[in-house]
Amino acid sequence: MIQILVLHGPNLNLLGQREPDVYGRVDLVEINRRITARGEELGVAVRTFQSNHEGALIDALHDARGWAQGVIFNPAGYTHTSVAMRDAVAAIELPVVEVHLSNTQAREAFRHTSLIAPVCIGSIAGFGWRSYLLAMEALKGHLEG
Ligand code: DQA
Repeated sequence: MIQILVLHGPNLNLLGQREPDVYGRVDLVEINRRITARGEELGVAVRTFQSNHEGALIDALHDARGWAQGVIFNPAGYTHTSVAMRDAVAAIELPVVEVHLSNTQAREAFRHTSLIAPVCIGSIAGFGWRSYLLAMEALKGHLEG
């Protein structure tokens, strides 16, 4: 069975309450439940983790080297700012799919640049919580070749 890490960055613990017109009304517990359920249908075992701390996210990426075949990652605000996060994604040599709930290209100019995207196999943005499910199908297809 394919094993993947689904990693959520800062402020995503507040999904459902945080700017619902932008990020939707579904909370992170329910999003993780939907991801896990879809994983069961696809034969993908999912572990989820959220942190508001850059170092904890980097540690989770490093740890994934030991057990995961791939990563789905919403780096949230760190997408646009963190060289260290990009370096961690590059360092682990696992396929990583970048995910955003919102369409970052349709938002403020500072969200148009992703430091993470160039070291990912692909990016999915703009489909709300369904972005994660699309990313999982894409990652599974990539892993199966
Ligand atoms: C986000 C988009 C980022 O620009 C923002 O900082 C977030 C969430 C998204 O999922 O749409 O926190 O990654």
